[in-house]
Amino acid sequence: MDILILNGSPKGAESVTMQYVNLWQKKAPTHSFTILNVAQQIGRYEKGEGFDELVSRLDKAEGVVWAFPLYYCLVCSQYKRFIECLFERGWGEHFRGKYAAALSTSIHFYDHTAHNYIRAISEDMGMKFYSSFSADMDDMLKERERGMFLKWGEDFIAAIERGAPIERWTAPITYEQMSYEPGDVISKVDPKGKKILVLVDSTDESSNEAKMAERFARSFSSSVNIVRLQDVPMKGGCLGCMECAFDNECIYNDGYRDFFENVVRVSDVVVFVGAIKDRYLSSRFKRFLDRSFYNGHTPAYRGKQVAYILSGPFRQNANLQEILQGQTEISGGHLAGVVTDEAKEGKMIDALLDDLAQRLVDYASSNYVRPMTFLGVGGHKIFRDEIFSRLRFPFQADYRFYEENGLFDFPQKDTRYLEFGEKMTALIQDPEIRKQVRKMLKTEMLRSYKKVVETK
Ligand SMILES: Cc1cc2nc3c(=O)[nH]c(=O)nc-3n(C[C@H](O)[C@H](O)[C@H](O)COP(=O)(O)O)c2cc1C
Repeated sequence: MDILILNGSPKGAESVTMQYVNLWQKKAPTHSFTILNVAQQIGRYEKGEGFDELVSRLDKAEGVVWAFPLYYCLVCSQYKRFIECLFERGWGEHFRGKYAAALSTSIHFYDHTAHNYIRAISEDMGMKFYSSFSADMDDMLKERERGMFLKWGEDFIAAIERGAPIERWTAPITYEQMSYEPGDVISKVDPKGKKILVLVDSTDESSNEAKMAERFARSFSSSVNIVRLQDVPMKGGCLGCMECAFDNECIYNDGYRDFFENVVRVSDVVVFVGAIKDRYLSSRFKRFLDRSFYNGHTPAYRGKQVAYILSGPFRQNANLQEILQGQTEISGGHLAGVVTDEAKEGKMIDALLDDLAQRLVDYASSNYVRPMTFLGVGGHKIFRDEIFSRLRFPFQADYRFYEENGLFDFPQKDTRYLEFGEKMTALIQDPEIRKQVRKMLKTEMLRSYKKVVETK
């Protein structure tokens, strides 16, 4: 059996994910594995140079494995760019009918959204997507988990051999793009001294996203800072080297960090504008996001109002909706709104943009932040635990930040609840008290809430 591995790590062969592949290869010697380091060599693919090799490997392969590290709820920008090339250049056609599987390594932070994405784009290319394996980075070091991984590999190969029937999980996108014509602004919004940054991911002034960005900026009575993402200095995507981990210093010296510190960091409101490309935003947007990893796991958008203005089928993309919500929450920002061009009517889009402008200023002025959902709360707990122990080294800068900002909010420190729990547990050992307390649970639980209603 010929298996083609598309390596999504910018580190190429020297990657954690590839050690899993190496082990699989060693334990399955009767099968042939070919690894293409597509993320590391994205420059070649962009120039169209790797295409012939890719097609000849694909023709031979009976199964294709997307093997990648998690980068910000998705794959890294280089891999995303590779996927864009597949669609843009019609290369995806060569994947049609092949069995596919996905293998990732991560700390399980939004691994599901990355896997949802890979499954969706595989299905969009007409592949038979069989299964995902989301390994914790260190699973390979444990006997049971190692066994599970090897079983997953065997299972994939067996599925190809028996010609397993496959059902599509994701609905195909049906979308007809309308051309947006922006109208006049009737009543302008006063930014009230708030610094508003609009990051526009578009190289085409006639695109809906560019027109929405321009119309949105016009909603304000004084000028806002509009920056095109292609003008943000970025020599390349994040390389995953982790050299930033000690002191938040990136090995690139291309001005990205200065831009982030001097423009993004000082803004009260950050609005991202872009178009949906395949099942996410563009690889350029992803590169911008990945490069912010020099901030480690600290909330880089803390206290900011964040919004997205998007062109494309957002409504049909629950996975992207979850990513934007979760990404914003975990980065410390408040997702104030998302406007898309799906409203079709230009007037409706204008109204949505005006309302977003109004809302952003109002929220920023009143420091309004809705509570985080599971996406942010759960994400924080993963980061907190990791920074406290496994990632303490090398992520020294994160550790300092978490300590200084009270982010090590472990329940073990919550003495009030711990003492209360202990006291009550001891009390209900008496059968009579236990009976009484059981009857009181519902009313007693409400006591403190009712007090607030009465007194506040
Ligand atoms: C820029 C960057 C972003 C990351 N984002 C995530 C993430 O969103 N979720 C996660 O669980 N791990 C994340 N990680 C951790 C990597 O996925 C993990 O270390 C992986 O095992 C690296 O694999 P590799 O050595 O094959 O590249 C991130 C790492 C980097 C460098």
